Amino acid sequence: MVVIKYGDPMLRKKCAKVTDFSNLPILVDDMFDTMYEEEGIGLAANQVGVDLNLMVIDVSHTVETDDTHTFVNGEITDSWGDSVFEEGCLSIPEVRLEVKRPEFIKFKYQTIDGNEKEEEFTGLLGRAIQHEIDHLNGILIIDRVSPIVRMQVKKQLKEIEKESKQKKTPKDRKESFVL
Ligand code: NI
Repeated sequence: MVVIKYGDPMLRKKCAKVTDFSNLPILVDDMFDTMYEEEGIGLAANQVGVDLNLMVIDVSHTVETDDTHTFVNGEITDSWGDSVFEEGCLSIPEVRLEVKRPEFIKFKYQTIDGNEKEEEFTGLLGRAIQHEIDHLNGILIIDRVSPIVRMQVKKQLKEIEKESKQKKTPKDRKESFVL
């Protein structure tokens, strides 16, 4: 799968609810493969052109968890606290921004089998969930910073947008914490 870059209207869509769970395992496998290929730690379905409320996350390089995560029809139901952390995004290559988000979230979601759950998350996993939920609602990290900071990356955004319209993928990227 090809990761869609900034400038594509797909990234501004509010994604549709998943109602048919039968094809999810294949789609989720493809999404994990794409995420690992791109060296990301999280990926939202609309980043690969799929209009569904679905995300995959793997933060197992940290000590917090060993698991990979798939969240379907996710919704943040409560949040509290503040934290600032530098984020990257596979759809906005090479741009790093300090993003302020709640430190804790209460998150309602369905598993890949359709089971409903509600749990609290914090740390890198909590942050990754918030970043991907933003994607699924058409929100990007550049919307979460001040106009001044946005101005500072304006030129980079224009270049990504231009490449996105030419359907080219930027090469030679080295990234660590990209979501
Ligand atoms: Ni992202």
